[in-house]
Amino acid sequence: MRTRSSPDRMDVDSAGNGPRSSVSRPSQSSKPLEAAVEEFLPSISEAESAAFKQAVIEQLTEVVGEKRPENYENGLFPTRTLDYAYHMLKLLERATLFDSKDAVVVSMSDMRRQLASLVKKKLPIFTQGERSFHWEDEEKRPIEQIVGRWLQDKQKVQINDSKRGPTEDSAVFKLGYTVKKRFLEGGLWPDHPWNSLDIAMPLLGTRTPSFLQARDAELLRFIRGRVMSGRGVGREFGTVESEDAAKPLQGARYWNDIEHWMLLAEGGAQTLPHMDAHGLATYLTIEEGDYGFGWLANPTKKERAAWLRDRTLVDGDKWRYTVLKAGQTVFFPAGTIHFVFRKKGPGGQSLVFGGHALLWSQLQHMLDVIEEQIQYPDVTNEDVSTEIEGIKNVQYIQVLNQALKEGDPGVVELAGGEEEVESLRQRYEVYLAL
Ligand SMILES: [Fe+2]
Repeated sequence: MRTRSSPDRMDVDSAGNGPRSSVSRPSQSSKPLEAAVEEFLPSISEAESAAFKQAVIEQLTEVVGEKRPENYENGLFPTRTLDYAYHMLKLLERATLFDSKDAVVVSMSDMRRQLASLVKKKLPIFTQGERSFHWEDEEKRPIEQIVGRWLQDKQKVQINDSKRGPTEDSAVFKLGYTVKKRFLEGGLWPDHPWNSLDIAMPLLGTRTPSFLQARDAELLRFIRGRVMSGRGVGREFGTVESEDAAKPLQGARYWNDIEHWMLLAEGGAQTLPHMDAHGLATYLTIEEGDYGFGWLANPTKKERAAWLRDRTLVDGDKWRYTVLKAGQTVFFPAGTIHFVFRKKGPGGQSLVFGGHALLWSQLQHMLDVIEEQIQYPDVTNEDVSTEIEGIKNVQYIQVLNQALKEGDPGVVELAGGEEEVESLRQRYEVYLAL
């Protein structure tokens, strides 16, 4: 990808100071390429983003036509395709390009240095240079390489099938063979696009983004260690529950792999505004395809509360968007209300490597978000009102409460000092007593 900005590209630094002088940038010839990439801002083109959005609007207009929810029984569209198209269309017609008040655009090295202070702004952060997997075959696109080689014909893949109705469970399982056929040979213009959001990262060669390789960002790993190994430092030993109810395995521990995963989607698949569950922050690194990413920027308390009460609400003038390309990364703090729009046609399929994170410096905010999601469980990507998803919130807070109670100086320091720990513990006690 391009690493230098050109006049039609908007570069804004973390302080919102606009384009940096090319004079101040290190010369590529004096540094190895990798080091140079670290110093450059991701190039985001306003013109390309606007054209992409316009093309999606046209495609969605064609899908929706004159159809309106009130024409259907109970005001519900017969398929999610139509439901998503209708709501995404309203949203995209309102969403505008972002400026330096709405997001942070930062080089990889600045992001590493300033993670905690950037996250405090509660805005999406865009960077580049975090692709870590070496794709062996330059002739083949990443989706061809990963789906074609790793996925086995008889494996089951969970797909969100937009052909389903809005009240039906959209998750269906398809055989690896079918998924391969669809992504490698299938048309680029699916009537009901597929979107797979639950694929474990199968590639050993991927790593945590460099900006999360920091003490502050080790919180999720810390909680996982406590859940899986207790106070020990031994390697985790997972057990799974037996399918034979008469002989359940003893000592089953519950953790799902949320640190690294991948997303595979067809062009035209739409993801309406939501928050990621459990007070988790998220990173997404684009490996293939153009990826329309939108968010609600700087909502007031009142605006946020209104959206929480009705997640189809697209009022106001704070919806922003951009389009990310392969090699670019977005990191968004817990509680960010975000959406994804995808275009059908050539280049429409997308592959994203992502993961969740928790920051020690964001413990109060994490709890704020969890409390919001308990009150409004349908605003997240997981149904936190279900038993298993509900357990995760409790589990996180139990582990943190216990760790803060123990008062290890290292943990107290990470959590912000004695006073902060006391305030957190008081909140945790109230939460756990519910
Ligand atoms: Fe999400």
